[in-house]
Amino acid sequence: MNNEQNLTNIDPLGDWKRSHDCGSLRQQDIDRKIILMGWVNRRRDLGNLIFIDLRDREGITQVVFDPQVNAAAHEKAHVLRNEWVLAVKGTVVARLEGQENHDLATGQIEVRTDEVKILNVTETPPFQVDGAVDASENLRLKYRYLELRRPQILKNFKKRHAIASCIRAYLDERGFIEVETPFLTKSTPEGARDYLVPSRVNTGMFYALPQSPQLFKQLLMMSGFDRYYQVVRCFRDEDLRADRQPEFTQVDLEMAFVDEKAVMDIFEGMMDALFTTIMDMKISSPIPHLTYQEAMDRFGTDRPDLRFDMELENISDIAEISDFKVFKGVVAAGGMVKAICVKQAASTYSRKALDDISLLATANGAKGLAWIKVAEDTWQSPIGKFFDDEAKSALNTRLDAAPGDLILMVADQPRIVNAAMGALRLEMAHREELIKKGRFSFVWITDFPLLEYDDEIDRFVAVHHPFTAPVAQDLGFLRENPGKVRARAYDLVLNGSEIGGGSIRIHDAKTQEMVFDALGIPSQEARSKFGFLIDALKHGAPPHGGMALGFDRLVAIMTGVRSIREIIAFPKTTSGTCPLTDAPSPVDPDQLKELGLRISPAKQSA
Ligand code: AMO
Ligand code: AMP
Repeated sequence: MNNEQNLTNIDPLGDWKRSHDCGSLRQQDIDRKIILMGWVNRRRDLGNLIFIDLRDREGITQVVFDPQVNAAAHEKAHVLRNEWVLAVKGTVVARLEGQENHDLATGQIEVRTDEVKILNVTETPPFQVDGAVDASENLRLKYRYLELRRPQILKNFKKRHAIASCIRAYLDERGFIEVETPFLTKSTPEGARDYLVPSRVNTGMFYALPQSPQLFKQLLMMSGFDRYYQVVRCFRDEDLRADRQPEFTQVDLEMAFVDEKAVMDIFEGMMDALFTTIMDMKISSPIPHLTYQEAMDRFGTDRPDLRFDMELENISDIAEISDFKVFKGVVAAGGMVKAICVKQAASTYSRKALDDISLLATANGAKGLAWIKVAEDTWQSPIGKFFDDEAKSALNTRLDAAPGDLILMVADQPRIVNAAMGALRLEMAHREELIKKGRFSFVWITDFPLLEYDDEIDRFVAVHHPFTAPVAQDLGFLRENPGKVRARAYDLVLNGSEIGGGSIRIHDAKTQEMVFDALGIPSQEARSKFGFLIDALKHGAPPHGGMALGFDRLVAIMTGVRSIREIIAFPKTTSGTCPLTDAPSPVDPDQLKELGLRISPAKQSA
């Protein structure tokens, strides 16, 4: 076999045309002459017969090389290796009785090869496409195109596409028009840092890549477009995690002349259509609502996972009647004590295991984790001695605790208690396997505060974004008590993940200026950053609102993968790099010069 001859063959297909894909041949195709093309998934050499599993996007077909049928093809088959690219001409035959493969859609038949063309060869692959995922993430991302050949990964991308098509059809039917908005633009604040793009023509000036199309979609409402959507890439320079990428996709939407309910109804209908079409299941509708405060009180987070109970209980009043100084002190200082009761878990966790778990509490800012193992008539607990019978019985009753249960408690300022207990609730649910596979729990979170105080920068910041409308009745608080103003905002949460968020927007310039003012943005700065918006608000802006769905997060949940990296074709690592292309990378000094830029040596060595 002469590889070089093949490599230099620039038109190996010649007049061969693929007749079928590798997933479609069935018993009714027996005796048909066919041409398949694909990759060698696996080769089995039985001496006289050689079997190739030929793979393409649609599946695998077994191809047989028999010297009795064609000696030359059989000879060629000896050199074939995994991942070589072939074209096979042959006849569909039934597999011998007992040789059928019931795991394969094409498992009743095989192809008896008359002729084979080697379309391309391959170097030794860095990992096997067909087999267990055992390579490091870096290696898998470096050869991402090979990893994407894995059928189980490809399957997720087909689903991603089906979800997007379903969403588009749903919105098209409801009169939404897709409009593209600029990528080279000005900062659109959504709480992250901007990616900046220097302008060559306007030296010293920068575009910002949009964190979302927020301002443009509002402008489109002012243009009378009425119902807009876009499946759009957004760019955010922020710390990356399993559910965060520096560029990600939103299903972004805006509607004129609507209230919250109209926007939420559109998304609720979309989720219903998606789960019916793609997952063949009904979502529980209507989707329940929780206010932000309720979610924080009961789950310690504004994205509660409702697939299991184990709610947080405020036990500050019981802590007060105990003799535990830490608890009493915290409550006296305006803090709180919250607890969860983990059913029948007391015997599972040793002191050492509880020390481990308490690290999660301290990682969330707590000073410690108090625990109680409830037994018949008594408690086993480092702080048991501080609780008399009355306090014990009050706590048991509040938590509905039974012998064998494990109680976990944190005392601190509410922010820390909620963060720590919210994280513990999730951790214990995972450890205790309380989350049933295949469950999907949606919840709307409403009544968010408009602003929250950021201790680091010492001023109020927008919880959603600065264009969200305040609840009209709360407007009076904007000056003297900004933290009390509620926003007309809503988030959609699925299985404990925030998959979307939106709001009714401010549609008059005065209110917008008041909010900028409450955010401590000087009017000059507001003018230079958002002057175009304020001007537009003065030119006949209709009341409007909308929402954006985190498309990658939704797809990740619907495909059951752990990280959105798995359903993004070419994702970045958690340090924001692409091992495949080596981005980001230094640029040519001439390019920098042209842009009028210089890299500070101090920054570079850091
Ligand atoms: P928000 O900032 O809440 O709202 O974003 C909407 C949704 O986008 C998803 N998301 C992300 N997904 C992956 N990686 C990221 N880095 C990332 N950041 C956000 C989340 C989130 O719920 N303009 C507003 C929407 C509006 O008001 O209409 C906005 O962008 O699932
Ligand atoms: P101490 O008396 O400080 O040794 O604490 C007794 C127990 O209470 C230990 O298990 C601590 O982890 C726990 N503990 C201490 N501070 C807190 C707190 N703020 N919240 C919950 N538990 C705490």
